[in-house]
Amino acid sequence: MNELKLGLLGLGTVGGGVLTLLERNGDAIANRAGLRIRVVAAAVRDAAKARPGAEDVRLTTSIDEVIDDPDVDVVLELMGGTDAAKTAVERAIRAGKPVVTANKALIALHGQTLFEQAKAQGTTVSYEAAVAGGIPLIKALREGLTANKIHSIAGIINGTCNYILTEMSQTGAAFDTVLADAQRLGYAEADPTFDVGGIDAAHKLTILASIAFGIPLSFDQVTTDGIGSVTAEDLTYARELGYRIKPLAIARRQSKGVELRVHPTLVPEKDLLANVNGVLNAVVVRADAASPTGYFGPGAGAEATASAVLADVVDLARNSTGVKMPALGQSEALPNPPRPLSIDDAVSAHYLRLRVADTPGVLNAISGALAEHAISIEAIVQKELPSPVSTTTVIILTQPVPERVAAAACAQIEALSAVSDTVHRIRVEHFDE
Ligand code: NAP
Ligand code: HSE
Repeated sequence: MNELKLGLLGLGTVGGGVLTLLERNGDAIANRAGLRIRVVAAAVRDAAKARPGAEDVRLTTSIDEVIDDPDVDVVLELMGGTDAAKTAVERAIRAGKPVVTANKALIALHGQTLFEQAKAQGTTVSYEAAVAGGIPLIKALREGLTANKIHSIAGIINGTCNYILTEMSQTGAAFDTVLADAQRLGYAEADPTFDVGGIDAAHKLTILASIAFGIPLSFDQVTTDGIGSVTAEDLTYARELGYRIKPLAIARRQSKGVELRVHPTLVPEKDLLANVNGVLNAVVVRADAASPTGYFGPGAGAEATASAVLADVVDLARNSTGVKMPALGQSEALPNPPRPLSIDDAVSAHYLRLRVADTPGVLNAISGALAEHAISIEAIVQKELPSPVSTTTVIILTQPVPERVAAAACAQIEALSAVSDTVHRIRVEHFDE
């Protein structure tokens, strides 16, 4: 199998994530792409810094050296900023090399120029990772929703701001403390005022609106209001009124034109977006056919963003090899594919409803049967029935166990003389953990 060799401009949070994913999932990615993908060179500011996992990568402080390296097939711009990054991407385009970038500022401000240059050179600039981190939102808009007329896009597209407001609201932590955490976790921009000032979200909204509405990239038309003015008091009062304050970006079509705005917003607490917390992003797209559709996931972070970067790289690899996504029904030759399990091996928690005699010791007998099968009880409730009924209802929530264990325990409970009916069992799943 041939190789597709990557040259990275920047080996920080996102570049490091690319190395990690290629190391962990390289075999599967190679199968899907039709080519093995390997990072051969990277430009950094400090070549002496320890970079675990980059032992086989040629490190240099020269951006040009990476771009001009005859070994490099694709240039990944993962350093950020707009000056050196623009110069570098233009150089890569002139060299006829495809560029993949995570840099929303670059695309929002200079995308038009770069796309035209790339077209003239017969190459491409891809930017899935520039918006909403690991969520494949650009693909969804450009491919999945291609038959729709988009009415609006609204969502949380800055992980740092959502993380800050969530932590302030839920733990009472101070703004500066939480911002420092977001920086330590690799979520924030090199200049975090881009995050808290709403500029980063405005860059992303510029890109989304351009794709959705077919308008030029219009960063200077986005009204931008940061989260700096939101106080702990505002978060409390909003909560008392049944709302949450969320950092929203909104692009909405009107008869007169398109609204483009980024600002903190009160969202009713039952709304989907009100319940998207931490670094998570979520975007709701309203359109004329498939509507609404929602996209949810990690908006920042090393591996989440690298996932989007590598999706673009795999597209390039497929274009160069002609390897297509396998059609439904054609199996993909993945290494060590998992086998489908019997339901007996499925693991979930359980809600159990039992009808039992209202006699002393019955709860002990039931919990004893569960303990024999090593099933822990999460909660137990006894519901008295009106007299003269001599039975009572017991509700139990268990911890997750394999299906066969839950079934065996229920059979044992049903055999108890104090239990007057079959055990009514419903599976419980926790999807936020
Ligand atoms: P980062 O951790 O600060 O890494 C930047 C990397 O670029 C570092 O390796 C740095 O070298 C190198 N670099 C910067 N300027 C350079 C120059 N002039 N010459 C050579 N190397 C240079 O940044 P990041 O978080 O990975 O973000 C990179 C890009 O991805 C940005 O455009 C950002 O907006 C975007 N992005 C980030 C995330 C995220 O969650 N972090 C998510 C989506 C998109 P040193 O290591 O020597 O300092
Ligand atoms: N600083 C950005 C954020 C990184 O917090 O959303 C992802 O684009």
